[in-house]
Amino acid sequence: MPLSEQTRSPACRHLLIFIFSQFVTAFCLFAYVRVFRDPGPELWPGHPSALTAQPGNKPTAPQTGSELTILLWTWPFGQHTTLRKCSELFSIRDCHITANRSWYHKADAVIVHHRDVCYSRNNLPQGPRSPSQRWIWFNLESRSHSPNLGIMDHLFNLTMSFRRDSDIFTPYGWLEVLSQPQNFSIPAKSKLVAWAVSNWNPASHRVKYYEELKKYIHVDVYGSHHMSLPRDKHHSTLSQYKFYLAFENSLHEDYITEKLWKNALGSGAVPVVCGPPRENYERFLPPDACIHINVFPTAQGLAQYLQELDNDTSQYQRYFQWRTWLKPSEPADWAFHFCKACRALQMTEGYQTKPALSKWFQ
Ligand SMILES: *[C@@H]1O[C@H](CO)[C@@H](O)[C@H](O)[C@H]1NC(C)=O
Ligand SMILES: *[C@@H]1O[C@H](CO)[C@@H](O)[C@H](O)[C@H]1NC(C)=O
Ligand SMILES: *[C@@H]1O[C@H](CO)[C@@H](O)[C@H](O)[C@H]1NC(C)=O
Ligand SMILES: *[C@@H]1O[C@H](CO)[C@@H](O)[C@H](O)[C@H]1NC(C)=O
Repeated sequence: MPLSEQTRSPACRHLLIFIFSQFVTAFCLFAYVRVFRDPGPELWPGHPSALTAQPGNKPTAPQTGSELTILLWTWPFGQHTTLRKCSELFSIRDCHITANRSWYHKADAVIVHHRDVCYSRNNLPQGPRSPSQRWIWFNLESRSHSPNLGIMDHLFNLTMSFRRDSDIFTPYGWLEVLSQPQNFSIPAKSKLVAWAVSNWNPASHRVKYYEELKKYIHVDVYGSHHMSLPRDKHHSTLSQYKFYLAFENSLHEDYITEKLWKNALGSGAVPVVCGPPRENYERFLPPDACIHINVFPTAQGLAQYLQELDNDTSQYQRYFQWRTWLKPSEPADWAFHFCKACRALQMTEGYQTKPALSKWFQ
């Protein structure tokens, strides 16, 4: 019997519509929660308990015997950082992590931070390399700010970067699934749009976009040549804004930095993002966690939308709904990344050479 005949009485029709809408709601909720609770190896991209997904890398039982030695070929950007016990961070066996090059011959792995060595091959380890030693190419900058990639080709066994397909995935942030739902309280808002920018390049995509946007909406700009924003005032200042412009300095796959994770999400401002395409953001975030500029044909359209949200509190609050179950998190320090390497080395046995790093890292 066709549905239309069954639904002649309005009460019955309302009931059916109600049941149907309940079903749709339940289905959506189920699908959503399933995504976040996927018990597979990757809980949510970037989550520290998610293992590196790399075909051919078979998780093995942590090896027994002496701990692995990891040599930091340089301190990243030459800055000494405090090392931590990986057993406390990830409940794994500790690694001996050192920046003392006397350990080169004994090291099971060497972490080479791209920026510190990229200007000359002579900056790379020179001595004979033990057959079992693994070299790890480490980089958190985008391709646009990673010179001389060519000299890194055919040298490394593992990659460590913000690219999700790295052997050791070290993103700028990720989402934690909460064990209990929370009522997230949106910080009190008294201002509209903020942007903090250190490298002001008038020719860049993001500055040009800002120049257009500011014709239609007021933007408070912080950073060198603009209003000052002391580090200890970062959070309290940015959290007063409804929106934060998380504009990346260059557009590359998975290159989503602390501008999103710390400045915007960390301070409870809704991120307005400019970076890789929207789908790329949605690998890491629910769709209603940020506003992508590409959704609007013009900067004027974006400005109009932000003003509408400013007027409509309940619409604005929708950008916080995901926080009922999810919490943004960031690596606390460099030691966190090194411990991820420690864990990966304990868990993986397939180490192929990356043939052409410069082709992969685009
Ligand atoms: C580096 O390690 C070697 C060998 O363990 C040790 O003799 C040397 O004192 C260490 N150097 C520093 C600066 O800790
Ligand atoms: C690591 O890569 C180098 C350079 O291609 C290669 O010679 C070496 O055998 C690899 N080491 C391991 C442990 O796979
Ligand atoms: C969240 O707030 C609502 C309304 O204020 C309240 O009914 C609910 O119990 C709260 N939930 C949690 C998890 O605190
Ligand atoms: C926001 O509200 C103000 C005051 O009610 C109104 O003048 C303005 O047109 C509204 N703007 C948008 C974009 O809805």
